Amino acid sequence: MTLAVHRLEADELRAAHTLFAAAIHRPPANDAGWAASARLYSPGRTFGVHAGDMLVATATSFPSDLAVPGGAVLPMAAVTRVGVRADHTRRGLLTAMMRAQLDDTAARGEPVATLRASEARIYGRFGYGVATRGRSVRVRADATLFRPEAPRGAVRLLERGEIVPVLREIHARIALRRPGGITRTEGWWAVGTGRRVDVEREHVLAAVHTGQQGDDGFAIAYLADANGVSGRSLDVVDLHGDVGATASLWRFLMGVDLVESVQAHLRPLDEPMELLLADPRASVVTGNEDETWLRLVDVPVALAARSYGAAEPVLLAVHDGLLEANSGVYRIADGSAERVGPLGGQVRPELECTVDALAMAYLGDRRPSELVATGWWSAPDPEAVSRADAAFATAGTPWCGTYF
Ligand SMILES: CC(C)(COP(=O)(O)OP(=O)(O)OC[C@H]1O[C@@H](n2cnc3c(N)ncnc32)[C@H](O)[C@@H]1OP(=O)(O)O)[C@@H](O)C(=O)NCCC(=O)NCCS
Repeated sequence: MTLAVHRLEADELRAAHTLFAAAIHRPPANDAGWAASARLYSPGRTFGVHAGDMLVATATSFPSDLAVPGGAVLPMAAVTRVGVRADHTRRGLLTAMMRAQLDDTAARGEPVATLRASEARIYGRFGYGVATRGRSVRVRADATLFRPEAPRGAVRLLERGEIVPVLREIHARIALRRPGGITRTEGWWAVGTGRRVDVEREHVLAAVHTGQQGDDGFAIAYLADANGVSGRSLDVVDLHGDVGATASLWRFLMGVDLVESVQAHLRPLDEPMELLLADPRASVVTGNEDETWLRLVDVPVALAARSYGAAEPVLLAVHDGLLEANSGVYRIADGSAERVGPLGGQVRPELECTVDALAMAYLGDRRPSELVATGWWSAPDPEAVSRADAAFATAGTPWCGTYF
């Protein structure tokens, strides 16, 4: 049986949605649910595989933008809703869809793609690497735990009808300030703020921080275990802002009555909870998670788009088994990067990596030296490693904060 990948038509998207739901062990959407979820699908960006008349595999993406070190913003495919029917797995359907999607992304002129992985061993083979990470944090709900000197700004709660328009505007203004930040679509906001929590139905706390230049941070939190009246945990599902804004928002959430603890997942690795609290042990890290899986679809464009630290030139060989045009030797120097030769040519590389391992360093999450030390990169010339560290160094820790 030949199983070919097709671009799905608009009237096939509900079947794709149902298939994906089943793949992640969820029931199909009812009519109202589908009416809302249909907005998550961007025209012409959903692929599927049929066995006879039956859809057995699907993957989609929506257009977004990704902030890279130095402040440039690249068009990005946000890959999502990838699923294969349980009775058709492990026969190459995902592989076929990934190839079709990568070709499509390249043809659209989107030099990068990112996704969130349900399991960590699926996407490396397609050139995706972990490019941002987060940590889960739980802290006692007691605002007096804050050091008096820690930032304390003005925080207000939003009314239900204000939540999406106000937060959408703030997010659009601030999210791309940090490498790894992405833009959100209307559909993302419309459907349960990216499926984390339905602000139309649940009781949520939506808080905004106002700094010197106006509104510059926000948080959405809700009581995950809303039985009984007290002793419960407040789940933070969205929290953005600089250190001053996030400190003020954490302080606010920790001061809400009838709550015992506040917890959040995928917080930036450099969020300084321990520095904000008089008792640093009141904040407990309960997990570490991969966040952004990044695929450099057009390596020359992506490498040229980001900034580099001052360093003597580095010659880096990149291997890409799926998109061969990316393979080659790149010279990173004087704050820029360009391809200077093919693999195995005259120009001898000092360092070598595959495209997924390049993604791990691209936004600044991992240093070349740690990737060499752990076998992700190799260093034909070990002296180049410290130069590569200096070139790829970034000012802050990359982070996205948008689940999709
Ligand atoms: C994950 C999923 C999409 C894989 O689809 P698939 O059609 O079985 O994948 P393929 O047959 O193309 O597999 C390609 C390779 O990846 C490996 N692979 C696929 N899924 C894997 C997994 N979950 N863990 C480890 N390896 C996996 C396969 O073994 C195969 O390896 P090989 O080339 O060495 O033989 C499918 O199992 C699924 O729908 N899972 C549930 C939903 C889900 O997790 N979706 C992803 C959301 S991000």
